[in-house]
Amino acid sequence: MDQLSKFVLDKGIVIDEDILKVDSFLNHQVDMEFMNLVVDKFYQEYKDKKIDKIITLEVSGIAPATLLANKLNVPLVIVKKQKSLILKDNVYSSNVKSFTKNKVYEIFIDKNYLLENENILILDDFLANGQAALGLVDLCKQANANVVSIGIVIEKTFQKGGNLLKEQGFDVFSAIKIASLKNNKITLLDGE
Ligand code: G4P
Repeated sequence: MDQLSKFVLDKGIVIDEDILKVDSFLNHQVDMEFMNLVVDKFYQEYKDKKIDKIITLEVSGIAPATLLANKLNVPLVIVKKQKSLILKDNVYSSNVKSFTKNKVYEIFIDKNYLLENENILILDDFLANGQAALGLVDLCKQANANVVSIGIVIEKTFQKGGNLLKEQGFDVFSAIKIASLKNNKITLLDGE
């Protein structure tokens, strides 16, 4: 078992059959040993691909996306969940339905930071039902930018997001794949 798998098994806390608590290393406290393991894995996957820019959705995608953007030497754009005095016009926007949070929210990106024909790597912390990733894909479509790949820190393969994105022809690379959270136990996908 690799270090990353061991980390998730040791530090992840099963809340129920669908939700894994990762507050101690990913989405509240950010653990640098964990992040560096994740980012090294992403870097090996993406270092030879033509990527012009990374986009991620605030908040928890920002840490891994920043470290990877630094390694790949490309800009990172943080897609926002709220408009502001500054970000209000000249934006692409999309609606995202969150099953986990049972709400629909709008996401925004300034048109100046997502350009036609740019090669985009989408990065996010979790892949569950795939709705956040699809919202980010939609922004790229509106800009006529190319989605090179969708990079995910933790994919829950027992939920439908991964298949949904692959069926639509997208490349999906997940650093950690969780097959099940049943019986209060984290089961990683076989062979991962
Ligand atoms: P989807 O995008 O794949 O359809 O997922 P969904 O709407 O169900 O999940 C949206 C939010 O819930 C995301 O956070 C995601 O990180 C989080 N989430 C999904 N599954 C889990 C899980 O098993 N454990 C934890 N801890 N979070 C999960 P968000 O609202 O975008 O939060 P943040 O990025 O602002 O922190």
